[in-house]
Amino acid sequence: MIINEENVRKIIPVAGGKGGVGKSVVTANLGILLSSYAKRTVLVDLDLGGSNLHTYLGLKNKNAGIGNFLSDRSVKFNELITNTPYRYLTFVPGDVLVTGLGNLQQSQRNTIASRIEKVDADYVLLDLGSGTSLNVIDFFLMSNSGLVVTTPQAPAILNAYSFLKNVAFRQLQRTCTSPKAVVEYLKNIPRDKTPGATPTIRDIVKKIKSISKPAGKAAAEAIARMKPQLIINMAESPEDVQMAENLRDLIARNLEIKVGCLGVVFYDRGVNQSVKQLTPFVVHSHDSVAAVELDRIAQKIIHSPRFPDMPIDLEEYESSFELASVEAENDFAEIEQSAAEEPDAVSLSHEEFIAIIASQKQQIDELKGTVRMLTMNQR
Ligand SMILES: Nc1ncnc2c1ncn2[C@@H]1O[C@H](COP(=O)(O)OP(=O)(O)O)[C@@H](O)[C@H]1O
Ligand SMILES: [Mg+2]
Repeated sequence: MIINEENVRKIIPVAGGKGGVGKSVVTANLGILLSSYAKRTVLVDLDLGGSNLHTYLGLKNKNAGIGNFLSDRSVKFNELITNTPYRYLTFVPGDVLVTGLGNLQQSQRNTIASRIEKVDADYVLLDLGSGTSLNVIDFFLMSNSGLVVTTPQAPAILNAYSFLKNVAFRQLQRTCTSPKAVVEYLKNIPRDKTPGATPTIRDIVKKIKSISKPAGKAAAEAIARMKPQLIINMAESPEDVQMAENLRDLIARNLEIKVGCLGVVFYDRGVNQSVKQLTPFVVHSHDSVAAVELDRIAQKIIHSPRFPDMPIDLEEYESSFELASVEAENDFAEIEQSAAEEPDAVSLSHEEFIAIIASQKQQIDELKGTVRMLTMNQR
């Protein structure tokens, strides 16, 4: 596991548990923004079985990717890194050309991880799949500070929680490889299917400590190293930050993980339109609130040489969640103001509506007259 704050080169996996919360949109657009500050950024599509990152970048899927790398020994990993229309941004495609790789073997995951760790760049973003398979969890654990994208809705929040619980459990399994009693204890936890029997990570660490002091210490340290960062996507009001705060508290209580919050990205129609037009939204609607919000997140990352640790000027806020909440309130005020300024057909009075129809009718009559005259002249 790479400890990002100690590394110049940051590996940032993007996960979230639930599908459709915006992991790929965020990865693609955040990559473009990071590269726009002349940071050499590589995007890797690791959603094997569901690779679609190229579409969010507006690229045709014609280059060899991870699928080719795994199925053809003559393909070198570095050859997969392709250029994009953005100067400092490169891209490693997934498995669209060679499919059927949904479930990798441990050795395949290790090979990919070791190649990614050697890639020369400032930032390496990994677009991960949904769910809690080892493909997702092990790639997420490539660094201590992956992003967890969630919407404010309860199902996404619960998936984010259970995703991190699985991540923490896997981290314990990887860390505690001795003594045998601890290994056996950990092995048996997922086997106990009694409803309500699953202990919290806090309980598990306690139990490990009671079996072996050194293993317990290692377990606690391994959990403490993890600093995942939340992004609340498709938010609709500043109160949505509260959902993220509830999630943070639940995670702190049961998993003993300290999560941070990188910020909120509001729901924005421009995002969907840009997806349809195969243009990244930070390019397509670069002055939209969502694009500005994602840019703020990119800047937080860039201005934190010890990311995920935030720089001093952010410390005037009690927590990254408080800052996100203040930002969300300002953004929401801006959205409301521009909505108020926009001429809005729905808010027309009945009289105004009749007047507009009457004037349109008159224009149509005039047009009809013109057309009649033109056709008469032709005869
Ligand atoms: N902030 C947003 N505002 C509006 N639509 C969004 C936003 N973020 C994502 N979407 C939409 O959600 C859909 C799913 O996003 P995607 O990144 O593919 O999800 P995931 O990778 O998590 O499965 C996309 O079609 C995109 O248009
Ligand atoms: Mg995706």
